[in-house]
Amino acid sequence: MSNEIKRQSEFWDSELTAFDAIYTHKKSKVQVWLDRIFRKDMFERFEFTMDNSEPIKGKTFLDVGCGSGQYSIEFARRGAGHVVGLDISNNMVHASQEYAKRNSVDVECNFMQSDLLEYKTDAKFDITIGIGLFDYIKEPLPVVKKMRELTAGKVILSFPRLFTWRAPVRKARLAIKKCNVYFYTKNGIRRLMKEADFRISRIEKVGKLYCVVATYD
Ligand SMILES: C[S@@+](CC[C@H](N)C(=O)[O-])C[C@H]1O[C@@H](n2cnc3c(N)ncnc32)[C@H](O)[C@@H]1O
Repeated sequence: MSNEIKRQSEFWDSELTAFDAIYTHKKSKVQVWLDRIFRKDMFERFEFTMDNSEPIKGKTFLDVGCGSGQYSIEFARRGAGHVVGLDISNNMVHASQEYAKRNSVDVECNFMQSDLLEYKTDAKFDITIGIGLFDYIKEPLPVVKKMRELTAGKVILSFPRLFTWRAPVRKARLAIKKCNVYFYTKNGIRRLMKEADFRISRIEKVGKLYCVVATYD
C-alpha cells in the first residue's frame, strides 16, 4: 500500500460516522438543512447514478470507493444480480457489510477492503461506478484504465469541478485533516476518458460536479 493510499485509508476510517450521517441524517436539524443546501449534489449524483444504471435487475456492479455502501445496497435492493464494493477503508467496508445485512441484501453484496489497482478478479462487471472517488485519486489514469479492464458495459463516474467557489475552500478544509483532494476540468475529463479508451455518452454538470457515463466500442 503506497503512503498516499495509507493516508487516505486512515482518513476515511476516521470519517465514517460523519460521512455516513450525510445519508442517514443522524445529526442536528441545522446540519441536515445545511447538507441539503451545500451537499445537494451528493443526493443528485445518487439519482443520476441510479437513473443511468436502469434497468438494474440482474446486472452485476462494481462499486469502487463504496464508502458505507449506500449505492451498492440500493443496487441490490433494486434487483442487481451481484454487487462488489471495494474500499481502502476497513471501517467503511465493515459498515457496508452491516448495512447489507440489515437490508437483507448481504447475499447479493460482497464488500472488500482493497485499492482498485490491487484488486484481482476474472470477472467483468456490467456497470462500474466511481462516485466521490476521483476527488481523492492522485493519478486517475491507471484507475480509469483498470475500470475499463473490469467493465463489460459502462462506467458511471463523478468528478469535482475545478472552477467553483467550493474547490479552494474544500482543499483548505481537507488539508487541515491531511487529506489531499483533486479537481477536474471538462476537457481534462474528456482527455482522461479518451486515453483510457472510453467513449463518453453523457457528461453533465451536477452542482459542483461533473457526472459522466462512458462506454467503449
Ligand atoms: C467520498 S467517499 C464516497 C463513498 C461512496 N461512493 C458514496 O458516494 O457514498 C470516497 C471513498 O473512496 C475510498 N477510496 C479512496 N481511494 C480509493 C481507492 N484507490 N480504491 C478504493 N477506494 C478508495 C475512500 O476510502 C472513501 O470511502
